Amino acid sequence: MSSPDQPVVLTCAQPTGQLHLGNYFGAVRNWTTFLDSHACYFGIVDQHAITLPYVPAELRQSCYKTLALYIACGLEPEKCNLFLQSHVTGHTELAWILACLCPLGQLERMTQFKDKAARQEEGGAGFIGSGLLYYPVLMAADILLYNADVVPVGEDQRQHVELTRDLAMKFNATYSDTFKIPKVEIPKQAARIKSLQDPTRKMSKSDPNQGGVIYLLDEPNIVTKKIKSAVTDSGSEVRASEDKPGITNLLHIMSASTGRSIEDLEQEFAGSQYGVFKAAVADAVVEMLTPIQERYKAIADDKKYLEGVFKSGADAAQKRAFKMLSKVNRKAGFIERAR
Ligand code: ADP
Ligand code: TRP
Repeated sequence: MSSPDQPVVLTCAQPTGQLHLGNYFGAVRNWTTFLDSHACYFGIVDQHAITLPYVPAELRQSCYKTLALYIACGLEPEKCNLFLQSHVTGHTELAWILACLCPLGQLERMTQFKDKAARQEEGGAGFIGSGLLYYPVLMAADILLYNADVVPVGEDQRQHVELTRDLAMKFNATYSDTFKIPKVEIPKQAARIKSLQDPTRKMSKSDPNQGGVIYLLDEPNIVTKKIKSAVTDSGSEVRASEDKPGITNLLHIMSASTGRSIEDLEQEFAGSQYGVFKAAVADAVVEMLTPIQERYKAIADDKKYLEGVFKSGADAAQKRAFKMLSKVNRKAGFIERAR
């Protein structure tokens, strides 16, 4: 699988149980580019998922579904370690040690904490759980526990990785050199995928207008319907430009689905009606999604297989995590338990 001298890439995502085109082009597909060159650790962070109100049975189902989707998207278990955060001892232990080094004010200033806390106050659980404040510390522990070299994330997570780097430097300065300072990697790829119904906003699972969001598991007729009803712009030219956000978004989607350049597509559809272009975009997306959906259907209900993947992922992750954890515990002044 991976050799010890390969650099380590780690990234994690919450178990949402569904992925849309934005998540695929902006995140998961990019992770597959590391499979042959890096030792890959991809975590499904169920412990982060409980920082907001949730239903336990749904969380469990979402974890299986998310795993099946990742595999269907090309994260082959033979080439990477896919694991559940709660299966690996060390994430919360390291988070505690890092929390003791982390200034409270720095957590209170995190943009995501402020956003999520405001939403909790408005209508959530009626209180803000401390876990929400400590969320970025647990994330720092996820990364440092594997002494990761590279952390690919979306722009919205940059601040959290910056905090991770701060905490790594602080630990190294307080105790002694222990952690590598991980590098954040934000994919350069095609601009953000926008909502089909409002191309000024990003495609997002929390968009109240779900007609603008294409999920990887949407049936072909649904995909086609959503694309055919996508908002377009005035004029009739198929061209990417700032005053044509709807058509530009569709061009990006088609380009990402086929690997063809925007210029190439503009040339092909010069003089075509919007309707013809949209039908071609729909076909391209359906063609890209078909093998993903087929693979998903073949494994999604195979609990035994999925549990096996979780087990081997956790075994490999745990091996690396224990090494780091015992080093950290020693440096922090804890006495090693006699065996
Ligand atoms: P959502 O907005 O649907 O809740 P998440 O915040 O769970 O998505 O994002 C998961 C990953 O997918 C992140 O790495 C994020 O940057 C990426 N991502 C989400 N939406 C888009 C989008 N519309 N275009 C490109 N990447 C996206
Ligand atoms: N906070 C990340 C998100 O919401 C998920 C995450 C948890 C993560 N731990 C991580 C991402 C470690 C990268 C590395 O998308």
